[in-house]
Amino acid sequence: MPHTNTTAVIDLDLPGPRISRHVYGHFAEHLGRCIYGGFYVGEDSDVPNERGIRTDVVEALRALQIPNLRWPGGCFADDYHWRDGIGSRDQRPRMVNSHWGDVVEDNAFGTHEFMDLCEMLGTDAYISGNVGSGTVAEMSEWIEYLTRADDSPMAALRRENGRDEPWKVPFFGIGNEAWGCGGNLRVEQFASLARQYSTYVRDHAGNEVYRIAAGASDDDLHWTEVLMQSFGPLDAPADAAAPSAPFQGISLHYYTMTGTWQDKGAATEFSEDEWYLALQKAGFMEHLLTRHGQVMDRYDPHRRVGLVVDEWGTWWNVEPGTNPGFLYQQNTLRDALVASVHLDAFHRHADRVVMANIAQTVNVLQAMLLTDPESGALVRTPSYHVFEMNTGHHDADSLAVHLDGVPTRTTDGAELPLVSASASVKDGAALVSLSNLDAAAERAVVLDLRGREVTGHSGRVLTAPELATHNTPEAPDAVAPVELTAIRPHERGLEVTLPAHSYATVSLTLA
Ligand code: AHR
Repeated sequence: MPHTNTTAVIDLDLPGPRISRHVYGHFAEHLGRCIYGGFYVGEDSDVPNERGIRTDVVEALRALQIPNLRWPGGCFADDYHWRDGIGSRDQRPRMVNSHWGDVVEDNAFGTHEFMDLCEMLGTDAYISGNVGSGTVAEMSEWIEYLTRADDSPMAALRRENGRDEPWKVPFFGIGNEAWGCGGNLRVEQFASLARQYSTYVRDHAGNEVYRIAAGASDDDLHWTEVLMQSFGPLDAPADAAAPSAPFQGISLHYYTMTGTWQDKGAATEFSEDEWYLALQKAGFMEHLLTRHGQVMDRYDPHRRVGLVVDEWGTWWNVEPGTNPGFLYQQNTLRDALVASVHLDAFHRHADRVVMANIAQTVNVLQAMLLTDPESGALVRTPSYHVFEMNTGHHDADSLAVHLDGVPTRTTDGAELPLVSASASVKDGAALVSLSNLDAAAERAVVLDLRGREVTGHSGRVLTAPELATHNTPEAPDAVAPVELTAIRPHERGLEVTLPAHSYATVSLTLA
């Protein structure tokens, strides 16, 4: 019999801050088989494509309603010179991708190809600009090239290359991991550069850019503090005009692994203890958002500066036999629950977290999609399904979920709560997300639904026989959502039974 003492109290009539759809953002770097082989196969490929972009990948990702896509890196961005990626492909200079496999990059996929991909996906572009080895002028000209409408030099060059209309570029990154691959800078140095570079990322032709300065790694609160000090006064009354700041958001990177950077743990071969350890590490995101948020609140009590978690997800050892520089890893049910725990945290911090980007979309780290290099077959990962099941949270108003009676397990010296949950409301419907992190036991959860009448409900569940079950071309649906039938009326609302190691969503129709 399932335990019946876990309760989730939800006040359906008390909506909180809006969950930006942009926390469901993605990331595509020139790394391994993410761009080449993943998104882009070239026009002459046998894999069905439009202008070189894989049609199956676009179709699969459209179901996720990807709100924004970050490109071209990552570490690659601070080596990337955008002019090498425009014009006739056979004339484009080549370069060495020193961070990722030391391979030669031929720049076949450049600005036009990326913006074409964004249009096919129906997603916003998040361009990551080069501070580490690029110039201010180069960055300034890139945004002019992308977004200027008249006959300015860069707009004219774009037209010569076949694109008449300017594109919209709502998001622009000012450097990446400036404390590491992006220049090994001290934060005081970088804060000055971020002010300078972002000044020249101008708004052209009605395109309003949200500039994001490269932020901290993990719990480096000092980095966040110094970046916050580089703003002018942010504590003017909330109804005063927004302060003019050189950038509008700062980023944060955090990866989940069970081992060390030298030996991160295997994607599919893991023990029950490592299952719990991974979920404990995923839960650290909640702590990071709280702590970085507290630092930001000291300078910015009205929360005008956005926190952008533009790299997150699992980072395991590469699959045996694959290039260590290509970061190709499998993706199991454990990755799906790492994702759901993060997304719950982003929902809870919707008043500060304006965007997040899981790393990375195809064939790299915690991917949504894996493609087979030989057959070209495409597989949707368990993580993909969590993103698809959560589309109802996009731009919905968050609802606080008060959990009571959640069992815990001591992991890595701390207590890991074995149920994670979040909820939101939009357009007369509410969506509740429930993760049962218990490796072995099912869990009954009473949804104590208050404040509005619930006239209908339905549920979906993602689980699998084993903790490490994953999808392959031979078994593409080994982990795929099915209807959740174990939902019963309860005097306080509904009672839901979650299978062991599962993720579920419950949709509620409200009167
Ligand atoms: O996502 C892979 C790499 O991780 C990125 O290039 C870098 O920013 C981070 O260290």
